[in-house]
Amino acid sequence: MATLLVKSGGEKAVAEWRSAFQAVDQRFRVHWWEDPAVPPEAVDYVLVWDPQPGWLRSLPKLKVVFSSGAGVDHITRDPDWPRQLPLVRMGGTETEQRMSEYIAWACLSLLREARAFARAQAAGQWLGRDACPSAAGRRVGILGLGNLGRRAAAALQAIGFPVQGWSRSRKDIPGVRSFAGPEELPDFLAGTDILVCLLPSTPETAGLIDARLLARLPPGAQVVNAGRGSHLVVPDLLAALESGQLDGAVLDVFEQEPLPPESPLWAHPKVTVTPHVASLPGRPERARYVAAAIADFEAGRPLPNLYDPERGY
Ligand code: NAP
Ligand code: GLV
Repeated sequence: MATLLVKSGGEKAVAEWRSAFQAVDQRFRVHWWEDPAVPPEAVDYVLVWDPQPGWLRSLPKLKVVFSSGAGVDHITRDPDWPRQLPLVRMGGTETEQRMSEYIAWACLSLLREARAFARAQAAGQWLGRDACPSAAGRRVGILGLGNLGRRAAAALQAIGFPVQGWSRSRKDIPGVRSFAGPEELPDFLAGTDILVCLLPSTPETAGLIDARLLARLPPGAQVVNAGRGSHLVVPDLLAALESGQLDGAVLDVFEQEPLPPESPLWAHPKVTVTPHVASLPGRPERARYVAAAIADFEAGRPLPNLYDPERGY
């Protein structure tokens, strides 16, 4: 038997986690994170979102930390997280599929003026147009061509958007022009009409989407942020929308979540806000992913999607 603590979805979600793990492997004892019946030295694995600082370090026999999300910033921001342990990022086809659906929806919403039409409908206005745009005429540039960026690129290409991407290392993806490193960022931005952010939160990517970056996009460009709130400087985005340099944004992630009621983003006519829902795979899918990774680990095979402390993601 192996003891797994979960902190993801709140204590009410534990029963669902337990049956999701039971369905794939009978030998897991699944408990809520703060279950007083589980002594710290009995814990083998944890599956967590935003553990309280210092807690992971207090589990002396912990073998692997599993993040219940693809990003791990909610774990690595704990100054005491046990760096000597493997940290596995959530992955798998469902995570990628859902994000690709969200990015396709966001880019089509921007292309087809969904926010303007929703506002016009609410006001009973017929917002007629002489012609409608097509995906072929709007170039999408994806910041981050990792697990999620690659899958999103394929979905966008299937719709007909020309797609290019920016990452740390050069990629070879059919039909996707690859830009790598800070020196190629300006050229990437100059050819991007819809900028999609699917970067991890690291010191290098913090505040990347600022006034300087936005000014390098063609006038009237649009932004989709489904990476992290830390990537976007919101006052700079608002100023670019005000000046007309930007024409719209779809935002799923924010520095402060839930987005505070006083945020000007809520009611902005050119901004669509979603509540950090771009890619939330189901618990059964995540349990399958974690159980398979533990089986690999215990058989001496490599763990998937490991956090690399050198890269910071
Ligand atoms: P991933 O596979 O690690 O991919 C990250 C990509 O970002 C890689 O292509 C990487 O370049 C690139 N990158 C990292 N730092 C960079 C830098 N300084 N300059 C240029 N490129 C850089 O991660 P993923 O699984 O695709 O997930 C990406 C992020 O999406 C997560 O970290 C999380 O923040 C966010 N996310 C959001 C939601 C949501 O619901 N909103 C859901 C899941 C994930 P290389 O390929 O060269 O390494
Ligand atoms: C969600 O934001 C995740 O990182 O999976």
